[in-house]
Amino acid sequence: MNYFFDAEPASMAQPPADPNDPRDPARAAAMAHDPEVITAARTLLAKTFEYRYYLNFRWLGRPIVQYPQDIIALQEIVWDTRPTLIVETGVAHGGSLIFYASLFELMKIPGEVVGVEIELRPHNEAAIFEHPLHERIRVLKGSSTDPSILAEVKTIAARHARVMVVLDSLHTHEHVLTELEAYAPLVTPGNYLVCFGTSVADVTTDLDLKRAWDQQRNPKSALDAWLGTKPPFEVDQGLSDRLILSDGPGGYLRRT
Ligand SMILES: C[S@@+](CC[C@H](N)C(=O)[O-])C[C@H]1O[C@@H](n2cnc3c(N)ncnc32)[C@H](O)[C@@H]1O
Repeated sequence: MNYFFDAEPASMAQPPADPNDPRDPARAAAMAHDPEVITAARTLLAKTFEYRYYLNFRWLGRPIVQYPQDIIALQEIVWDTRPTLIVETGVAHGGSLIFYASLFELMKIPGEVVGVEIELRPHNEAAIFEHPLHERIRVLKGSSTDPSILAEVKTIAARHARVMVVLDSLHTHEHVLTELEAYAPLVTPGNYLVCFGTSVADVTTDLDLKRAWDQQRNPKSALDAWLGTKPPFEVDQGLSDRLILSDGPGGYLRRT
């Protein structure tokens, strides 16, 4: 007996919708709106935050500070939208830069990856530049909101027809709002702007983060304020519905 998949439909002239469609939006939405799933997911998110679960993983040898679900989501986005430039604010150990570069390699996309990091530690810098995929990667050292960094990113983006941006640096309301205003215009129509850290708004237990963001003021509050200005982006809610455990719920936006 197959516990996981519905039986294949009998052969018909017009096959019905695939009952095993992994992206079936109705199935994902039902799951995402199930109160038991919501409660369990928020509890798990809060508990895993406590242990800094997001530090548990590596991509091709570099620590990648992401939930595995988000790594899969980013892979799907890159496959579907084929950006030739991915800009990431907040590099940390460089795992995501290596991840994007590896997707470009696998997908045979002649792409480049630009990271912006205010505090690139020497051992991380060395490891990124000793990595076999380093030729696709450039790291700009400084704050993502520094006008000279922004000017450099804009110059690079101007060479590309398909640009994707991932915001994952300082998770304060003010900083993310400034990043959204500065980086969103670089994203080309059909490509994605991903805003991580929105999960903080969903964690109802007292995390005692001792950080400059909390459940009220965080990337989600910044994103909501920015979306209120009606930028040409739509939230890919279907993607968030499928993820359940994510650092960026509601933070996957497609430029219209
Ligand atoms: C959540 S970590 C990034 C994780 C990384 N994106 C990954 O997937 O592995 C946040 C990083 O943002 C950096 N950061 C903080 N403020 C910044 C700023 N104003 N500009 C650029 N980077 C900043 C921090 O130093 C830290 O390395």
